[in-house]
Amino acid sequence: MTLRTRTLGTTGPQVSALGLGCMGMSPMYGDVDREESIATIHAALEAGVTLLDTGDFYAMGHNEMLIGEALRTAPAARREQALLSVKFGALRGPGGEWSGYDGRPAAVKNFAAYSLQRLGVDHIDVYRIARLDPDVPIEETVGAIAELIEQGHVRHVGLSEVGADTIRRAAATAPVSDLQIEYALISRGIEEEVLPTTRELGISITAYGVLSRGLISGHFSADRQLAANDFRAHSPRFQDGNLQHNLNLVEALRKIAEQKGVTVAQIAIAWVLAQGEDIVPLVGARTRERLTESLGALDVVLDADDLRAIEDAVPADAAAGERYPAAQMTHLGSK
Ligand SMILES: NC(=O)c1ccc[n+]([C@@H]2O[C@H](COP(=O)([O-])OP(=O)(O)OC[C@H]3O[C@@H](n4cnc5c(N)ncnc54)[C@H](OP(=O)(O)O)[C@@H]3O)[C@@H](O)[C@H]2O)c1
Repeated sequence: MTLRTRTLGTTGPQVSALGLGCMGMSPMYGDVDREESIATIHAALEAGVTLLDTGDFYAMGHNEMLIGEALRTAPAARREQALLSVKFGALRGPGGEWSGYDGRPAAVKNFAAYSLQRLGVDHIDVYRIARLDPDVPIEETVGAIAELIEQGHVRHVGLSEVGADTIRRAAATAPVSDLQIEYALISRGIEEEVLPTTRELGISITAYGVLSRGLISGHFSADRQLAANDFRAHSPRFQDGNLQHNLNLVEALRKIAEQKGVTVAQIAIAWVLAQGEDIVPLVGARTRERLTESLGALDVVLDADDLRAIEDAVPADAAAGERYPAAQMTHLGSK
């Protein structure tokens, strides 16, 4: 099958208009089901998804090994269509604790060497540091990726969660295909400065958290118990005092979804898709059922009246709570 495609920036690859983010297939949102995860990746490839996103620090290599296994066990034609977007640079300890970022050129090449092994591929399609290393100029980190491109180990430079100034400096060092950053109906911080900058420079957005980690999917409820290893157990938007307010926004969205005969998740994804051809949502489906629902968003047509109704139901600054805990907000280049 083929899906609608979009091109990442002026220099990047053509990818399916929806990408699959694989993070939740490693224990970042509570327990995981390996068989279902692999079946979901296979189903995504079968449906025409070409972009798979991961990070070497998603459960310390677990996510890359999972994708490696899914690719090995997929039919050759499906394996060959897969484009891999990999983040590196976040440092962790054996207990999973986070301990900063490393964007030094030697570290970049070391990270890449291990990722290629774990993924079982001979190149990475888009390679990006997960967060700016405050001790290493972005030119050095991007310069190291550019060397990996020259050597054939990587195809394109990407960025993740950086602000306008860093985007400009990176783009002046090497062509950048896309910036990966959170963008959703309730996370619209990029609209002020980041999005105009990427558009000026011909860089696309691969948007994550389009369902705000499940919060605006229509499937989340206040009585859901979150395990301690679930990011959401510590995320401000899921805490008492904020959660009910945010779920009320979802109910407003549900009314619009029902009128259009689609699901809340489909409306939320379709809204991001409608923001521009330069935006590719990465959905975090970790089961085939959620994947099918997400892909249905590609068939949802939103006209100007629909978009207005959606934004009236969920105004830009309506969410309660920031998108990350305070300590993690300090690593972001934009709110
Ligand atoms: N660059 C960065 O800093 C960064 C940060 C975070 C993520 N990412 C990337 O972006 C990807 C997507 O992020 P995300 O997982 O936070 O995004 P998301 O799509 O907003 O949230 C995914 C969660 O939403 C829930 N969900 C409910 N209905 C769904 C549906 N129809 N389709 C998909 N999910 C549904 C699922 O939770 P339940 O299964 O619990 O219901 C799922 O785990 C990640 O996998 C990762 O590759 C990048």
